[in-house]
Amino acid sequence: MIAWSVEVLDWDSRFFGLKIGKLAGPPGSSLELQDALNVARRDRIDCLYALVPTEALEAGWILERAGFVARDVRLEFTRSLAPQAGPADVRHWAEADLPALEKISETAFGATRFAADPGFPRDAVARFYRTWVTNSCRGFAQAVLVEGPVGSPFGFVTLHHDQDASAARIGLIGIASEHRSKGVGSRLIAAAMSWAAGLDCGEMRVAIQAGNVGAQRLYQRAGFTTVSASTWYHGWPLRDSQSGIPS
Ligand SMILES: CC(C)(COP(=O)(O)OP(=O)(O)OC[C@H]1O[C@@H](n2cnc3c(N)ncnc32)[C@H](O)[C@@H]1OP(=O)(O)O)[C@@H](O)C(=O)NCCC(=O)NCCS
Repeated sequence: MIAWSVEVLDWDSRFFGLKIGKLAGPPGSSLELQDALNVARRDRIDCLYALVPTEALEAGWILERAGFVARDVRLEFTRSLAPQAGPADVRHWAEADLPALEKISETAFGATRFAADPGFPRDAVARFYRTWVTNSCRGFAQAVLVEGPVGSPFGFVTLHHDQDASAARIGLIGIASEHRSKGVGSRLIAAAMSWAAGLDCGEMRVAIQAGNVGAQRLYQRAGFTTVSASTWYHGWPLRDSQSGIPS
């Protein structure tokens, strides 16, 4: 695979109204990064993401020297699955739940790499997770599980099934602030594992922000362990300063 090749991300570009790309492939040398930046400038890419294993320190230094800024640290957690019954209180989402699910997602997920980067339009940053949960209900996720009465759920978890890898992934979990610390999150994760095991998945994965210690504890209690840690960098190849602050 070519080091640091440029891949355009269509959904992100449409959502933020910017042309957004990602440095794909393994981390490369300083020269390979300059080649990738030349391609990005030629293709008028506003923002480039790079996700670099946190232990690849040299790759991080190369990106920083070229003006990229670390915006978040992503942890990948996993656990193996065995057939199990899920908690009775958890159900699939219903159409009447959607306004409440959107409301939860508007406030539950504040500290994102997009919020940390002044280059992204603030209104789009604020709408990001609301759009994520709406799209998940409309088919982006294979299942959205909730707990609570129809029309006023306490919280939700979105789920993805990778048939080729026989693995499932948790996309997003959010609990309304007034219903936290009552076991809703733990029950939704137990239900998620039961759903995935019912599809013959042998493994469940989830990405968590390193700064979100509460969520890490939730998954650790459910038997998840860390697989990897990676740093998200953002660069803005068309701007004098890649920090994303307009010059
Ligand atoms: C992280 C999050 C999903 C946890 O959900 P939750 O419903 O509060 O989770 P639980 O109630 O199962 O566990 C939370 C805590 O309450 C405690 N708890 C659970 N049931 C309890 C009860 N009946 N009485 C007292 N404490 C209880 C747990 O031990 C846990 O303690 P800890 O904070 O010391 O680890 C929730 O805080 C949230 O929505 N956060 C914002 C969104 C987010 O960060 N999502 C994760 C990334 S996608």
